[in-house]
Amino acid sequence: MAREITLSVIKADIGGWVGHSSVHPEVSAVAEGRLEEAISSGLVLDARRGRVGDDTALIMTHEKGIDDEAIHEFSWDTFITMTEKARQLGQYGAGQDLLSDSFSGNVRGMGPGCAEMTFEVRPSEPVIIFLADKTEPGAWNLPLYKMFADPFNTIGLVIDPNMHGGFLFEVHDLMEHKKVTFKTPEEIYDLLVFIGAPARYVIKYVYRASDGVVAAATSTQRLSLIAGRYVGKDDPVMIVRSQSGLPAVGEVVEPFSLAHTVAGWMRGSHHGPLMPVSWDNDTPTRFDGPPRVVGYGFQITTDGKLGEPRDMLGDVSFDNARRRALQAADYLRMHGPFEPHRLSLDEMEYTTMPQVQERLAERFEDVPEGSC
Ligand code: 13P
Ligand code: 13P
Ligand code: MG
Ligand code: MG
Repeated sequence: MAREITLSVIKADIGGWVGHSSVHPEVSAVAEGRLEEAISSGLVLDARRGRVGDDTALIMTHEKGIDDEAIHEFSWDTFITMTEKARQLGQYGAGQDLLSDSFSGNVRGMGPGCAEMTFEVRPSEPVIIFLADKTEPGAWNLPLYKMFADPFNTIGLVIDPNMHGGFLFEVHDLMEHKKVTFKTPEEIYDLLVFIGAPARYVIKYVYRASDGVVAAATSTQRLSLIAGRYVGKDDPVMIVRSQSGLPAVGEVVEPFSLAHTVAGWMRGSHHGPLMPVSWDNDTPTRFDGPPRVVGYGFQITTDGKLGEPRDMLGDVSFDNARRRALQAADYLRMHGPFEPHRLSLDEMEYTTMPQVQERLAERFEDVPEGSC
């Protein structure tokens, strides 16, 4: 039997250089040093540091399964050590995503985001890890739907006998802490009712229906729901396996040619296009954005080595998407503080609205019903 490994991607914003635009090289070096130690001590099989904007992702392969305490504690301690360096360097919002004072067994609910999956490594295992900044976990709903349920994106659904049986989408309700699984293509209308509302319903896993093989996993932490106030956006990560009975690499990256609209951007309070970018252009700058996504491609070996990552969204074939994103950004920015550029009221509840409402409550007078 082929070897089972776990791929863990655990991320946090531990301070920005400058503002919320990037990670200081010395802070990144702390993460890289810690990951080197984890490899040499045998804690992990292999590891890489990923980055998008002010967020750092620890990308690790190991044999300990998901939710493993040692892996999560190592990640937490790494973020703490990075935060110390970030504080020394006066980085903006140092320790931003570390919402708890001490580690308690799992990073879930403590601020950092995590996407993990355990699978048998195929002789060739192409995996793409997407990292996004200035947006929320629901940002992956549309691309995942396209990859695994839309034949106009993924021709493999039609012509690859191993994909023709469809996929299972595990959707989480982040408000009620419930989950439900939909089978595509049969239930796409039911699925879309929920995932079309990405602030609340988020695809957590995708599995191949014919044999239950895991195909995709996302991070689903909502910082504002944990902290009860605005503490920066969640800036999610996603793992997608590809080829041989799963979408081809080209089908996995294709949805990002749209630069679809997501929630996030300035102060986590605006809609903007999710711009696919190269690793060299991962720095949200204009109005702290626009939101962006990078892709790290790996050919994982059967002994769990990640190998050299490839920059999957830097290619010229995404230039039109970038252009469209910048045009959409111009258009939306012109709306200033008006919806739909600004998020709708129910998504703004962790900002000033409740305080302003309270302060002005007495100035609101009844309007008699039926008056014109
Ligand atoms: P190759 O014939 O180059 O292996 O490509 C097959 C494929 O999956 C293209 O998407
Ligand atoms: P981050 O969520 O990336 O820290 O951004 C916060 C923010 O307020 C940007 O304007
Ligand atoms: Mg930040
Ligand atoms: Mg961020």
